[in-house]
Amino acid sequence: MKRIAVMTSGGDAPGMNACVRAVVRDGIAAGATVLGIHRGFAGLMKNEIVEMDSRSVGGIIRQGGTMLMTARAPEFANEEGQKHALETLSAWGVDGLVVIGGDGSLHGAQALHHRGFPVIGVPASIDNDIGCTEMAIGVDTALNTILDAMDKIKDTASAHQRAFLIEVMGRKHGYLAVMAGVAGGAELVVLPNTCIDFSILAKNVKSAFLRGKPHFIAVVAEGARTETGETMTREICKVIGDAGYDARITVLGHVQRGGSPTAFDRLLGTRFGAGAVEMLFSGVTGKMTALQADRIVAVDIDEVLQTESQLRPDILRLAEPLSM
Ligand code: F6P
Repeated sequence: MKRIAVMTSGGDAPGMNACVRAVVRDGIAAGATVLGIHRGFAGLMKNEIVEMDSRSVGGIIRQGGTMLMTARAPEFANEEGQKHALETLSAWGVDGLVVIGGDGSLHGAQALHHRGFPVIGVPASIDNDIGCTEMAIGVDTALNTILDAMDKIKDTASAHQRAFLIEVMGRKHGYLAVMAGVAGGAELVVLPNTCIDFSILAKNVKSAFLRGKPHFIAVVAEGARTETGETMTREICKVIGDAGYDARITVLGHVQRGGSPTAFDRLLGTRFGAGAVEMLFSGVTGKMTALQADRIVAVDIDEVLQTESQLRPDILRLAEPLSM
């Protein structure tokens, strides 16, 4: 392995920089030249590549976002885009590639692997929706950002005896919603694909209001949808409002993707980056670094993409009896 390249792709996640830093520094320490690809697969197809040195990643471990920048590149799904990318990698003399990103990025990595190019994927997505790994880069920071917002919202909610519906990211996955609901002391958590009995909800909310409960906080996953495909947030807001509380909606949005990474994400990014370099140098390809029982292991990207990430039943149980 004389020349390796690294990219961040898809939605940014706090801790990506720690991973880039580890790939650059460990790659150089192992005797390789390390190249940085800007804007993920989109930048690769446009030849946006620079050589990195140890200093180029100085000070980035505490920064959110990604110093390599990122992009969503649906055009990489077609054969022409992939062939062009391989030509670019070959023109730069790249022997191995590290792709840091979520589900879409891992599909890109898988495509290059199946075309015979050495590649290692690193899971990074605040949604924590990637199979075979307990955690992805960025999840912990996003969760802490949500908790910070929930605590603040609870202050103002209690001051007015109001209800708040806090809509959180996660696509079709409910990890952030359930964890934030439990850790933030929410009264209700609404996950994708859960059936809500609105009459029971209305009864419980009314009873909480009449008992003088000063706030009612519901965390709603953005992936929880009505039959017509709308988010559940408005519908639930109406039920809670009709049951007595003055109800408001806060959609946290992209604030959940920003911010300085937590210690956990800096360490996870660093461990995944070091693991990815080690795998490339030991001739491993087509694998993703994964966190399993606190160890960094290599899992086939094919297996990862066939495995649906499930919410753990023991965590789901914690959310069931949320106090009303
Ligand atoms: O996958 C990460 C994520 O932040 C999701 O939670 C969210 O639905 C989506 O990306 C938003 O995508 P974009 O930044 O492209 O609007």
